[in-house]
This record gives sequence, structure tokens and C-alpha cells, in this order.
Amino acid sequence: MAIVNLQNVTYKYPLTEKPALQNIDLQMKEGEFVAVIGPNGAGKSTLCYTLAGFVPHFFKGELTGSVEVARNETSKSNLHEWVLNVGLAFQNPFNQISGAKYTVFEEIAFGLENIGVPREEMKGRVKEAMKMTGISDLADRSPYSLSGGQQQRVALTSILVMQPKVLVLDEPTSQMDPIGTREVFSVVRTMAERGMTVILAEHKMEWIANFADRVIALHEGQILVDGKPGEVLTSDVLTEKGFGISRYTSVARRARELGLWKRDTLPVTLEEAVKGFKE
Ligand SMILES: Nc1ncnc2c1ncn2[C@@H]1O[C@H](COP(=O)(O)OP(=O)(O)OP(=O)(O)O)[C@@H](O)[C@H]1O
Ligand SMILES: [Mg+2]
Repeated sequence: MAIVNLQNVTYKYPLTEKPALQNIDLQMKEGEFVAVIGPNGAGKSTLCYTLAGFVPHFFKGELTGSVEVARNETSKSNLHEWVLNVGLAFQNPFNQISGAKYTVFEEIAFGLENIGVPREEMKGRVKEAMKMTGISDLADRSPYSLSGGQQQRVALTSILVMQPKVLVLDEPTSQMDPIGTREVFSVVRTMAERGMTVILAEHKMEWIANFADRVIALHEGQILVDGKPGEVLTSDVLTEKGFGISRYTSVARRARELGLWKRDTLPVTLEEAVKGFKE
């Protein structure tokens, strides 16, 4: 039984001609970690909004097909109920900050407060979530005084603390250095192993190759390829359609043309490239 089930989903923003999503079919199993890649404007954020109920409950426009998460249908539900199952971290973490709280600790507690979680339990959950994402030392800071990468960690933490069934992350590491990126990917991997279903829009191919179970390549609102990371991330069609691809894939592809790459498959990560070139 799929926890996420999108059938023939097409969506147009208000006052636009061209759909931002077109005939999307997507089923996800519980605990699956799916990465979504695509060039600018491909529809990654729109797909995230659709899973998270912001389409159609916040962004109006025209939605057809069915969007089901945990057996609820988005069109028969409201955003208030929806967010209990699905947590979204926005592409711009600044959009996540409530503006109502003075400290990071209170900011992260905000969602739990809203659903009436008792004070003591709330404190425990907030502390644990902050520890997981490595931001315990930011507890007393103002959310507005943080760097972009720190804001992204706060945004992720404020979603994780709600323990949603489905976690939707829209480029959650765009403002992070490699150390931050590694930490986020490994926290997310851990959550998936504990049964949380994760969908993550991302440009960083090597990280996806190391951590995700499956990759969906979006192009002009449609699913172009859907499969295992190693296959999708090295597929020739990505280069043709203007996707950013891993430098190791590009180098090995060129080497293959020159007869210097012997393997049948192309690498995505440095480790795979090194192994392949040694052979
Ligand atoms: N609020 C909006 N109103 C109208 N059109 C929109 C709106 N938001 C996005 N679009 C359009 O929908 C399409 C998909 O945009 P979306 O933001 O989902 O792409 P994306 O893959 O997330 O791109 P990026 O890599 O730049 O984040 C684009 O053509 C975009 O111009
Ligand atoms: Mg986007």
C-alpha cells in the first residue's frame, strides 16, 4: 500500500497557460527516500507544494487528478489537517520563520504548541530534535540573526519535531557547506530508516547517489525518468535536457568516448570514478 499516491496530476498556477505539473503519476512506499532533480522551472517546488497540500489549499489555480497521502485525499481535506501528516521545508528557509517567536527554541516549539502538546513533552521533543540536526547551541539565538545554512537547519528541525509521516524537503541544503550537507543527508537517511517517507528536491547529485533510494527526474512539469540513483543520474537524456550532472559522470562519459572508461555503467561519485579508472 503506497503512502503517497499521485494519479494523473496536472496543475496550473492562476493566470498561467502552461501547466507547472503535467500527468504526474507517483507512488511511494513507506520509508522510501526519493530525490527529485530537474533544471530551474522544472516543477520541483510545485511538486513539493502539491504533496504538502499548499497546492490547492494555498496556491489556487487548477488541479486535476488525485493526490493521496496516508489514504487522505488532498481535495477532501484542509491544510490544517494535512500538515499533521506531511511536513514541508521551503526552498527559501526565510519563508519558514513564523515571525512570532524571539528564540530558535521557541520557533521550533511553535508547531507543537499549536497542536497543544504539553509543555514538558514539548521541551523534550524540541531538545531531541535540535540535537539530531546539530543546532542545540543555537537555542537562544534570534531566528533572524542566523546564516542561511543555520536557518535551513532550523527549518528542518521545526518539521522533524512534528514527526510527520511524510517529509518534503525543497533544496534543504542549498545554503550549506559540504559538512552541513552531509549532516542533513544523514539525518534524513536515519529518519527514512525509521519509517518516515522522504521526498527531497535537490541539485547535489553525489549526495543523492549516496543517500537516496530512488530518483525522479522532472522536466517541464513531467516525469522524464524514474528509477535507481545510479541509473537515473547517469542517463544520457539528462545531459540532452539541460540537467546539472555530476562532474564524475561527465568526465567518465568523455573518457568512454576516448576508450578510457571500460565499465558498462558511469559513475556519479568520486569513489565510483576512482574505482572505475583504476580498472
Ligand atoms: N506562484 C506562481 N505563479 C505562477 N507560476 C509559477 C509560480 N510558481 C512557479 N511558477 C511556474 O511554474 C513552473 C515550475 O516552477 P517551480 O518553482 O516548481 O520549479 P523548480 O523546479 O522548483 O525551479 P527551481 O530550480 O528554480 O527552484 C515554472 O514555469 C514557474 O515559472
Ligand atoms: Mg524550486
